[in-house]
Amino acid sequence: MNRRIDAGMFLRVVKPQGLCLLLQLLVLLQLSVLPSPATAGKVYVSFLLFFVHQIKLGDICASNGNCDAGLHCETCVASGNPLLRCTRIQPSDPKSKGTGLPFNRYSWLTTHNSFAKLGQKSRTGTPVVTLENQQDSITDQLNNGVRGLMLDMYDFLDDIWLCHSFGGKCHNFTAFEPAIDVLKEIQVYLEANPSEVITIIIEDFVTSPMGLTKVFNASGLLKYWFPVSECPRMARTGRCSAT
Ligand SMILES: *[C@@H]1O[C@H](CO)[C@@H](O)[C@H](O)[C@H]1NC(C)=O
Ligand SMILES: *[C@@H]1O[C@H](CO)[C@@H](O)[C@H](O)[C@H]1NC(C)=O
Repeated sequence: MNRRIDAGMFLRVVKPQGLCLLLQLLVLLQLSVLPSPATAGKVYVSFLLFFVHQIKLGDICASNGNCDAGLHCETCVASGNPLLRCTRIQPSDPKSKGTGLPFNRYSWLTTHNSFAKLGQKSRTGTPVVTLENQQDSITDQLNNGVRGLMLDMYDFLDDIWLCHSFGGKCHNFTAFEPAIDVLKEIQVYLEANPSEVITIIIEDFVTSPMGLTKVFNASGLLKYWFPVSECPRMARTGRCSAT
């Protein structure tokens, strides 16, 4: 089979977002499958198939639409694999283990610096110059099964802000948004999903009087708050064992 014709046919079936992948595939074809036209034919057929069928976790893809439900077509450069692959299934629901276990018997997906979304502009109007950790908004994370959020809270501009900062101080270029906006996203989610349990881990740089209490109260989240002080402790380990 003539590889040039294959490439032309490819171009007609891929969407624009697949072009980057197409280039990677063509490079692969040229580098590794050149010697055998028969192999090239087989590779071509299997690549064509993946544009037609839904594909599974870890398989190479061109766009989200290629992947099975619940999967996205993404690269993960951090894992050393620059090819687009179907990634990210929804984590299993902690409640699937029953709802009667102590708190410390559950596990759930937690995101670090949950608010530090890639490409997010600081609400101060200043470009963010700090590390970004997430691709999804808080609401999308919750909808995708995240049940733990790690939030860095600072006194900033006469309010409590979420910042990915240093030295215990927030700056315009490390500030993302006022904490109340994210807390309200959580509140809206809990209103709609009252049987879910969300754990918020605060990296707390707030020193203003009652600062955290005020912002939680103003967000409407206090009514869902399970105070740590009410959490029973196990005598030997000191671990929280709320039932
Ligand atoms: C930081 O942002 C605030 C809000 O936009 C602005 O009022 C202030 O002037 C900025 N500070 C600096 C140092 O740029
Ligand atoms: C909580 O909010 C209510 C009104 O929404 C207010 O009356 C109350 O004083 C607030 N409590 C604190 C501790 O901020």
